[in-house]
Amino acid sequence: MRTLRVGIVGAGGIARNHHVPSYKRCQDVNVVAACDINEAALEQMRDQHGIPHLYRDYREMLAQERLDLVSVCTSNDSHYPVAMAAMDAGLDVFCEKPLALNLSQAQEMYEAARTNGTRTGVNFSHRRTPASMLAKEIIASGALGPIHQVIAVYAAGGTDYASRPGTWRNDRTRAGYGGMGDMGSHILDMVNWWMESEPASIAAQTRTIVPQRLDRDTQRPMRVTTEDQGQMLIHYANGAMGYLYGGYCFTGRGYDQRIEVYGAEGGLMYSQHRSYELEVYLPPEALRGYQVIRRGGTPDTPYTRILVPERLQGAVPGEPGVRRTVLMDYVDAYRRDGAFAFSPGFLEGVQVQEVLEACTLAEAQRGWVDLPLIAVKPRPETPPADLGVRPLPA
Ligand SMILES: NC(=O)c1ccc[n+]([C@@H]2O[C@H](COP(=O)([O-])OP(=O)(O)OC[C@H]3O[C@@H](n4cnc5c(N)ncnc54)[C@H](O)[C@@H]3O)[C@@H](O)[C@H]2O)c1
Repeated sequence: MRTLRVGIVGAGGIARNHHVPSYKRCQDVNVVAACDINEAALEQMRDQHGIPHLYRDYREMLAQERLDLVSVCTSNDSHYPVAMAAMDAGLDVFCEKPLALNLSQAQEMYEAARTNGTRTGVNFSHRRTPASMLAKEIIASGALGPIHQVIAVYAAGGTDYASRPGTWRNDRTRAGYGGMGDMGSHILDMVNWWMESEPASIAAQTRTIVPQRLDRDTQRPMRVTTEDQGQMLIHYANGAMGYLYGGYCFTGRGYDQRIEVYGAEGGLMYSQHRSYELEVYLPPEALRGYQVIRRGGTPDTPYTRILVPERLQGAVPGEPGVRRTVLMDYVDAYRRDGAFAFSPGFLEGVQVQEVLEACTLAEAQRGWVDLPLIAVKPRPETPPADLGVRPLPA
């Protein structure tokens, strides 16, 4: 098999700690080059991963290296120019979330990918949390019945929240959105994926709680122009109502991602902190085939806690505690014979971006905004790849 040649643009945290390690776990993939405008980030990349060719300008990297694939790991303002340049050069693109700074950029990226036949992926990484895979399986089985309510929260809440230095994440021209885009985009995508439905209308509210921070790089005061937190009321196309919180302000909670889904016949409660378990309220026959950790059914513990089956745990052989990532599954799909099919790609990135855009509109108009916002709704031409989620055991 020919070795895939990968170039990374943006050598910050997600590139060094997630993308490069994921590529290294794939067979016949070589990260041959990395690029960053920041010298210190490049040095860290070289020290941590020993990547042979380092660049300060991604255009030079695209011109010099014979790449197959580019990982876009920059701050959000560079996703669009880097991805468009890579696609212009005929390369495939795996991009960080949120896909772009705004909907029109995201839409252009999606259209360019369709025109060029680009194999795209977007790193909605939490789809591979084992408990999320199990939630997907249970919802897809129909065991919850028609779903009427979703509550989704993704909060980062350190105790130093108010005094943290300012970064590009606090600057709307570089991030596009604040807590809603950074944290909220993950759970917007996750709920779309779980339910195979999308928001049909939303109302939203956002707040910047700390209006000024000390810039991490310049040590000067900077005005914060992104929201610290946001919340949405969502009416999904399948009839479900949703509440969603994305932000940084749940003091003392650390990274806390929780999603509850309630249907006519059952419910489930997912938490990132219990990534190998799911709490479920299901008819007994739907529970068959799952290992019960703690049986529910009493007023104190109505929900039964079940273990994520091994087939959905995504264990990486020989590396205890390491799990497969969306990026590793993207590379598998890339390698598979036949038409390329992978989700989440740019389409799913656009779908999330639409809701983020609607959030800004809803806040400005102080009212409900209907979706979709764009006239021609993009639709996939090939079904998403099978990700290992199976029908419920009989
Ligand atoms: N999927 C996830 O779970 C997850 C987690 C964290 C971050 N992210 C996403 O990853 C991206 C990067 O986040 P991060 O935490 O690594 O940020 P970071 O600040 O640590 O790194 C970003 C790097 O990009 C570089 N950069 C910016 N513009 C560039 C350009 N034009 N050319 C080359 N380099 C450029 C910066 O110098 C910086 O080193 C963001 O889009 C973020 O939303 C995703």
